[in-house]
Amino acid sequence: MRLILGQILTFHGDPFRDGPASARHERRGAVAIDGATIAATGPADALRAAHPRAEVEDMGDALLLPGFVDAHMHYPQTGIVAAWGARLIDWLNRYTFPEEARFHDPAYARRQADLTLDLALAHGTTSLCSYCTIHPESVDAWFEAGAARGMALWGGKTCMDRNAPESLRDTARSAHDDSAALLARWHGAGRARYVVTPRFTPTSTPAQLEALGALWAANPDCLMQTHLSEQTDEVAWVRDLHPEARDYLDTYERHGLLGERALYGHAIHLTDRERARLAEAGAALVHCPTSNTFIGSGLFDMTLARTITTGLATDTGGGSSFSMLRTMAAAYEVAQLRGEALHPAHLLWLATEGSARALHAADRIGTLAPGTDADLVALDLASTPAIAQRAARAEDVWEAVFPTIMMGDDRAVAGVWVGGTRAQRAFP
Ligand code: GUN
Ligand code: ZN
Repeated sequence: MRLILGQILTFHGDPFRDGPASARHERRGAVAIDGATIAATGPADALRAAHPRAEVEDMGDALLLPGFVDAHMHYPQTGIVAAWGARLIDWLNRYTFPEEARFHDPAYARRQADLTLDLALAHGTTSLCSYCTIHPESVDAWFEAGAARGMALWGGKTCMDRNAPESLRDTARSAHDDSAALLARWHGAGRARYVVTPRFTPTSTPAQLEALGALWAANPDCLMQTHLSEQTDEVAWVRDLHPEARDYLDTYERHGLLGERALYGHAIHLTDRERARLAEAGAALVHCPTSNTFIGSGLFDMTLARTITTGLATDTGGGSSFSMLRTMAAAYEVAQLRGEALHPAHLLWLATEGSARALHAADRIGTLAPGTDADLVALDLASTPAIAQRAARAEDVWEAVFPTIMMGDDRAVAGVWVGGTRAQRAFP
């Protein structure tokens, strides 16, 4: 048994449905770890008394949280993060597709997967759900890099059979068969989970959407991820491509790509029917606020989280940061622009249990509950002089943590544990 000591925040409900009071703070808390699993979370004195021979790692005033869960990102876009001057479709053509074409090379794919996961861990993110590229090798690289670090990862082959360069196009048949083979290889292999991944309606023919709908139906415990209503130009394009559909969501729904285990990235420009249908189907949304501001997509309606499971994500490289702290700050700013002030409890929950629930994995990650995997982050709440001087005036834990949410980055990450093992910093 090992004990990690620090401040602790735990949630006993969903703050969007149950209010911020669903969070509990322990000024002097501890997480007890048995092997790779959390054995107990509670007051440090009580856990020390219960486990007098436990090895103790004292993180002082650092805040212990579940490792951050990034529910939507593109590891193949790490190399083109912060690409200047384009909106979605232009950005895909100018920056994204040429970079993704490089992933036919397994060595390059592995290098970028390793780099992305090292960056994620340095920022306190212990689980990610990634789009790979059309190349099966890019999926192998992702899960192999995850296994080397013991991380719980989600991912899938990004399928595209139209409106993409020749070198990045598969077919309805090959998308199905390659995805099926990767699913058989990786889904449930250690901590890897396969995700059926049509990129979005503009780059998949109805035949491809249908084939992937059939694959998902045959593997109902898998997640399915795609993009939905990110930019108005994209929504108009989908309307032109599919005059027969009621709306953008309907282009997925009519091919079997709507259900409880569906994850829709962005979901900004929704109709009333789409909102109602998403709630009724029990699907999840993934809010990607740094991406939405960076490529000029729009302002996500956070009130949706009251009725639809919602996670939080960087969406790198459309997103401009690897940091879930920076992502929480952007979520706060986006909500402010819509007239709503998110409580720090909302933000921390989104980045941990909210994303874990979207991934249908809150029984394993995203909380400090006993029996779940010991993936943790310790945050230094005074990591820079600017943050420290503000936190010094804090009168409660929320005032102490909010400056780190708004101004923090990888310098705030004092420790990361994956499956109970302390991750070594890859960057000095
Ligand atoms: N829509 C389709 N593909 C992408 C992508 O790679 N990034 C973002 N942000 N939106 C997309
Ligand atoms: Zn995306």
